[in-house]
Amino acid sequence: MNMYEQYCLPHLIHCACGLKVIQQQREKVVPLAKGRVLEVGMGSGLNIPYYDPKNIELVWGLEPSEGMRKKAQTNLEHAPFEVRWLDLPGEEIPLRNESVDTVLLTYTLCTIPNWQKALRHMRRVLKPDGQLIFCEHGAAPDEGVCRWQNRLTPLWKKIAGGCHLNRPIPRYLEEGGFAIQTMDSQYLDGPKFAAFNYWGTATPS
Ligand SMILES: C[S@@+](CC[C@H](N)C(=O)[O-])C[C@H]1O[C@@H](n2cnc3c(N)ncnc32)[C@H](O)[C@@H]1O
Repeated sequence: MNMYEQYCLPHLIHCACGLKVIQQQREKVVPLAKGRVLEVGMGSGLNIPYYDPKNIELVWGLEPSEGMRKKAQTNLEHAPFEVRWLDLPGEEIPLRNESVDTVLLTYTLCTIPNWQKALRHMRRVLKPDGQLIFCEHGAAPDEGVCRWQNRLTPLWKKIAGGCHLNRPIPRYLEEGGFAIQTMDSQYLDGPKFAAFNYWGTATPS
């Protein structure tokens, strides 16, 4: 890991993910989480204030980046429920089969290198009646925007910690073993190439 990834990137991700328009997205999905929760790519813990504490038993915060885990300290100190770190990537979830009620995935599927393996693990640890809650940016429905997403992704990945602009989120979830139950999608405010969001819920298929 170079100096940029270790010191600058966590700060940049924390700021970008803390934008008002993104926080408004969190409000729509995070309160749906309940029971034992696995948050994949917890980042700087920006979802913590949006959980409904009375529904939460425990949150496993999986986050491979030490810089992001450090950035999360303040949010963690204010968490009204227990948060246990898993300092591993989504491709190596160490939890038991069918042991969590909710998997929460916000703005992380864009970044996970082996998304197939990570989704297989999420499905494995989710109880059969559990729910995956997602909010992700990804491939836009307009051809022109898509073309720009494809052109920009190789450079974007280098400056944004491996983030892809062009991932077809619903298709990935379905290929990863999930059936989408509810989904909304739209452009948020901001540059169109990074602004198309998908959010909703899915269950093991
Ligand atoms: C754009 S940030 C989003 C953070 C957080 N989910 C949020 O909503 O603010 C993407 C996060 O995914 C993490 N990440 C990178 N590779 C990962 C992997 N293989 N598995 C899980 N998380 C990963 C990054 O360290 C980063 O914290």
